[in-house]
Amino acid sequence: MQKFVYEYATKVYFGEGAAKEHLAAAVSGYGERVMLAYGGGSVKKNGIYDEVKQILEAAGKKVTDFNEIMSNPTYAKVQEGANLAKKENIDFILAVGGGSVIDCCKIVAAQAKTDKDLWEMEMTDHQFPSDALPMGAIVTAFGTGAEMNGGAVITNEEKVIKAGMAAAAPRFAILDPAYTASVPKMQVISGAFDTLSHAMETYFGNSDQDNVSDEVALAIMKNTVVNMKRLMGNVDDMQARGNLMWDSAMAENGILKVGRVTDFQAHQLEHQLGAYTDCNHGQGLAVLHPAYYRHIVKDAEEKFTRLAKEVFGAETAKAGVEALADFIKACGLPTKMGELKSKVEITPEVLRKVANTCNVIKCGPRELSRDEIYDILMECM
Ligand code: NZQ
Ligand code: ZN
Repeated sequence: MQKFVYEYATKVYFGEGAAKEHLAAAVSGYGERVMLAYGGGSVKKNGIYDEVKQILEAAGKKVTDFNEIMSNPTYAKVQEGANLAKKENIDFILAVGGGSVIDCCKIVAAQAKTDKDLWEMEMTDHQFPSDALPMGAIVTAFGTGAEMNGGAVITNEEKVIKAGMAAAAPRFAILDPAYTASVPKMQVISGAFDTLSHAMETYFGNSDQDNVSDEVALAIMKNTVVNMKRLMGNVDDMQARGNLMWDSAMAENGILKVGRVTDFQAHQLEHQLGAYTDCNHGQGLAVLHPAYYRHIVKDAEEKFTRLAKEVFGAETAKAGVEALADFIKACGLPTKMGELKSKVEITPEVLRKVANTCNVIKCGPRELSRDEIYDILMECM
């Protein structure tokens, strides 16, 4: 194991009725001006907005709405939120949504405390914000695990880059599986595939033999696959949704990553594909994973074989990769670029740009060349 410092920054309230039971107490230690942040309106339709707002007002909070946070949140949206937070002297940000709303709020929280351009500060000067407004998260769509970590993925439309930024983790996260009841089936499955991807990407980084992270990652993969299969049979199975909600947080709360390096090359490809196409994150990963793994399966044969056996009941490393591809198909997830919802036509020229601009992971099973990345992307056409 490599050296590490680990701390859980986020208090979790899990279970049906968690907001009613715990939200008032969770926000009681913060000032009265609360920014209530959400996406394109699902929380208004399903009643979560009304329930949360009422709890906040009954707790004596003055609520300011920050809404229309889009999937794959943009840096421009972050600036809008930060300006609003400054203007309204916001004391606390409550993000109510999926990974997009939570990520946007994490960076709003930091940008509200500085006049410096956070993107330049982080990406060019490699300095990270030391101060941020406190924030909490109520998860309404699971998969990213954004509610329990200090990273955020933001799209800079001007620069055509979608990248991870450092921020403060939410002080608390409310995880009520019932709050996900209205999430459409395809989003539930896409989110769950993102969780599976996080566990696989962590597992395929370099690690000491027999380390516990690999064991936990495999357990999360197995549990995610089992519960995705349950949802394929009955999408309203709330027990399966609850299991996946916690798998999601577990895969990205940092516990799997201590003392080791991670891979996350598929994520780097997907993020840059997202910068050009605005595709759904979990669906982009579903398209990319099998092609990427066919390229690196020989470089981590032992690990691939173990995954094949333990997660998919397949015998060999290669059979495991094909079992993953079959599982993606059986879930109804996209398997080709052309099946992704995209703002532009996905052409070889677009994929060349993605290959030329995505992050290349220097460790993982093997460092890829930009030409090989282009080949992988083209194999997904
Ligand atoms: O905007 P609304 O109307 O709320 O609709 C959303 C959105 O269309 C809908 N939704 C959410 N809760 C719902 C609901 N619809 C009905 N009922 C509900 N209860 O779901 C759609 C997708 O939401 P979004 O937040 O975009 O999805 P997801 O949670 O998959 O987040 C994706 C973003 O997270 C980033 C991704 O790159 C992407 O930008 N990631 C963040 C990570 C992190 N911070 O740790 C790690 C991940 O690898 C990922 O990169
Ligand atoms: Zn992800």
